Amino acid sequence: EKGGYEHFMLKEIHEQPKAITDTFRGRMLAEENIIKMSSIEDNLDKFLNADRVIIVACGTSWHAGLVAEYLIEDMARIPVEVEYASEFRYRNPIITEKDVVIAISQSGETADTLAAVKLAKSKGAFVYGVCNVVGSSIARETHSGAYTHAGPEIGVASTKAFTTQITVFTLLALKLGKANKSLSDVAFENYIKKMQLIPKQIEKLLEIDEHVKSIAAVYKDATNCLYLGRGFNFPVALEGALKLKEISYIHAEGYPAAEMKHGPIALIDENMPIFVIATNKGHYEKVVSNIQEIKSRAGKIIAVVTEGDIQVKEIADHVIEIPDTEEALTPLLTTIPFQLLSYHIAVLLDRNVDQPRNLAKSVTVE
Ligand code: F6R
Repeated sequence: EKGGYEHFMLKEIHEQPKAITDTFRGRMLAEENIIKMSSIEDNLDKFLNADRVIIVACGTSWHAGLVAEYLIEDMARIPVEVEYASEFRYRNPIITEKDVVIAISQSGETADTLAAVKLAKSKGAFVYGVCNVVGSSIARETHSGAYTHAGPEIGVASTKAFTTQITVFTLLALKLGKANKSLSDVAFENYIKKMQLIPKQIEKLLEIDEHVKSIAAVYKDATNCLYLGRGFNFPVALEGALKLKEISYIHAEGYPAAEMKHGPIALIDENMPIFVIATNKGHYEKVVSNIQEIKSRAGKIIAVVTEGDIQVKEIADHVIEIPDTEEALTPLLTTIPFQLLSYHIAVLLDRNVDQPRNLAKSVTVE
């Protein structure tokens, strides 16, 4: 069942090129430069006339929601808010008929997300679902939606569900951006070209496994870790920290890199590993100066950089290279090394990787 892999999580990490390709299938028609999504086409006026999009989700799916916020605002210029479903449903939120509410859920059964969907419906909003499990409660309860085609995800720690959620939102944002002309034809076509390369780029990136394993061996006994990223990669930092916490039980926090000086910098000493996403387009110089601040406090830096990087390589203790792509698409790549890192640390610590303590795959109680 595990296809020769020791754990479902590792198998699912390696399935990502195929899962993303499956999520593209029938939707991204690269040769014709078209994105076909009937759930968007049939409801185009609702999306384009929306006052705002409100995304509700929990956990890893909430992190995908944050990436979606950056994608939709950047590409389609529609205001987006991202909410924890558990907060949204209980805080007497303002929801109108001009809002589009999008629920994200791998399982489609998360109690808080389902309750948020029902609340939004009762207020007259158009409710759209991004689920992985076909026919799940959230998929049935929403007005329309798009499935991720990740296939069954068995490891409790979400991996391929996350990257396929981001894939769906990239397609959605591109389609809306093209429809309302926020994106030029040239920009749209360039994104399609670069998106098409992603599955192969992930395949190549997965070859760094041994390198990541050697980094895992160095930091497996850390008691605290920090993950930093900016822009599109801020949510990836949050997700990196969550992955480490849930399967290795090492305390980790994700932060937008520039927030470091507003508190977490006080934690930094020679025992603190700091994982920094420093790809070449996303506020690179600013991240480099964040790295220098860490270095001058003796923190250990493990940086995820773009292939061919020179500047960060000189100051970081370890670097992990990702292939070059557009900034907006980098989360699909930068996520991968963090998944592998958490996996290897958990294995080295002899944790129950696929079924971490206290966690359930589907949280059907609040
Ligand atoms: C993290 C993880 C959880 C889920 C969360 C939402 O690896 O698996 O944080 O992401 O419980 O689950 P879904 O997406 O099924 O609603």
